[in-house]
Amino acid sequence: MSAPILVVEGLHGRIAGQQVVEDVSFEVPASGVTALLGRNGVGKTSTIKSILGLIDRTGDVRLGGERIDRLPTHRIVQRGVGYVPEDREVFGSLSVAENLRLAERDDRPRRELIERLFPDIHARRAQRAGTLSGGQQQMVSLARALVNENRLLLVDEPTKGLAPRIVDEVAAALAEAAKTVPILLVEQNLHVIRKLAERVVVLSGGRVVFSGSAADLLDDEARIQRYLGVATDESAHDAVPAASIDITEELR
Ligand SMILES: Nc1ncnc2c1ncn2[C@@H]1O[C@H](COP(=O)(O)OP(=O)(O)O)[C@@H](O)[C@H]1O
Ligand SMILES: [Mg+2]
Repeated sequence: MSAPILVVEGLHGRIAGQQVVEDVSFEVPASGVTALLGRNGVGKTSTIKSILGLIDRTGDVRLGGERIDRLPTHRIVQRGVGYVPEDREVFGSLSVAENLRLAERDDRPRRELIERLFPDIHARRAQRAGTLSGGQQQMVSLARALVNENRLLLVDEPTKGLAPRIVDEVAAALAEAAKTVPILLVEQNLHVIRKLAERVVVLSGGRVVFSGSAADLLDDEARIQRYLGVATDESAHDAVPAASIDITEELR
């Protein structure tokens, strides 16, 4: 077993003076997809923002063994942490190509990888990003992170609000991306988690309540209910569209 790429110990995060991440500890292996799970509002996005230094945080965070918890965000990014934010945040008035060029961090952009992983986006490179569908914008957002050689990607709810067929496309792109870089993935869709993730970390109330193999969690109906509040009956899955098993939807 190689050393984990990310080790988080005793991470606390605050927004406007309020504690939103409380003593969170977990590891991300140096390959594959690790899913960060939990109900709406438990602190998944805040955990990612704490790792990146986008919100006030304290704790011990190591990337490849080196501490990054005192570094400003741009230094963390320079060390090879890519971020795909929750709401995609593409520049709508710029073309696809311009969005990608703005993201290029050094003189070795991986344009061929982007062409191979996202042929549809490549074909639309002259199109204004604001005129793309939600799924296409998600691909641009992912491509922006993948154009640089990173040591870790932090990907926040990439399938949120997408139609089931598009969810599958984004999941396939993530699976390809995961062959090139380890990913910490916030994801509500249990199908996607089952397909992609080897490991899972579950948050509740800003704390880690489970961390272990994805199969162990997904096969444990009682735990899924307790932590995520959804049923995992596979026959039920087949009967309903994927979007309806979205954790957040089930909880409303
Ligand atoms: N900008 C903000 N201002 C105040 N509170 C916030 C802000 N963003 C998130 N929070 C609070 O922090 C907690 C965790 O939110 P978040 O990390 O976004 O959860 P998740 O990503 O798991 O849905 C929630 O209680 C939320 O209301
Ligand atoms: Mg979130």
